[in-house]
Parts: sequence; structure tokens; C-alpha cells
Amino acid sequence: PVEHTFATIKPDALEEHRDEIMERIQAAGFTISQIKETRLSQEMAEEFYKEHKGKPFFDQLINYMCRGPCLMMILSKENAVQEWRALMGPTDPTEAQTSSPDSLRSLFANSVLQNAVHGSSNLNQAQEKIKFIFGDIELEKANNES
Ligand code: CMP
Repeated sequence: PVEHTFATIKPDALEEHRDEIMERIQAAGFTISQIKETRLSQEMAEEFYKEHKGKPFFDQLINYMCRGPCLMMILSKENAVQEWRALMGPTDPTEAQTSSPDSLRSLFANSVLQNAVHGSSNLNQAQEKIKFIFGDIELEKANNES
């Protein structure tokens, strides 16, 4: 069954590597079901990353995500959540460079903070972020339908 995940190209990566990242997403076989370029307000960024509130890097993370537009996407394919996480690679690009040299973070991230892309960890988080960014939309064979 088709699965839908939520993905973001972060501001620095969108400015510097947009086309290369989009080509790799297409080449990996994802369907882009929704796409929207948005500059997050501070309030939206804090809500988006609410699970990281209180962490030492939280304020830096909010600043980073608000510095320019992000590209928000719903990516669809079989096993999309795990497939997108694999294409991104680990959070920390130095780790990505050793464990998954072809991943987006290995290729395009500048640091553990400025790590180019975001993706949901599981289906619940994907649905929550999809609703937050795209509202109540209809998706073909939506998550959790069997
Ligand atoms: P993301 O996968 O979007 O989820 C949370 C983000 O916080 C992460 O990508 C990074 O941008 C950032 N982040 C995670 N860990 C750290 C860290 N140790 N130091 C700085 N930023 C981090």
C-alpha cells in the first residue's frame, strides 16, 4: 500500500541545492503528492518542533528554520516513512558521510543543526505534520487505512 510521509527541505539547502535534492527525490521513486514553499514564523517553527522544546539547540533550531523559506512536501510511495529516512541519512552529517555516503545529509548538510532536510519518524508524526502544514486534505489510500 502507498504510504505518505512529511518532508522538508530546510532554508539553506533550498537556496543552495534545491534542484539536486528534487532530482534525488524523483530518482528514488517518490510521488510528490503536495508541495508548498513556506517561510515559517517563529510561532509556527516552535509548534513544528515542539517535541524538541527545552533542548540546548532549540533556539538555534528555530532561528535556522525561520531564516528563509522551506519547501514542505508530502512524499508518497510504499514504505515512504522509512524510505525517506534512508534517503535523508542520519541527523549528523559526519555520521551520514561514513554510514550512508549517498544520502542527502551526507551530500548537502553543513552540520548537525544545518542538516538540509527533515522527515517524520513515524506515521503518526507524519499525519500530524501534514495536518499542521497542509490542513485537512484528502490523500489517496491515506495512512492507517488498510
Ligand atoms: P530534524 O530531523 O529536522 O529534527 C530536529 C532538528 O534539530 C534536527 O533535524 C537538526 O536540525 C537539529 N538538531 C538535532 N540534534 C542537534 C544537535 N545535537 N545540535 C544542534 N542541532 C541539532
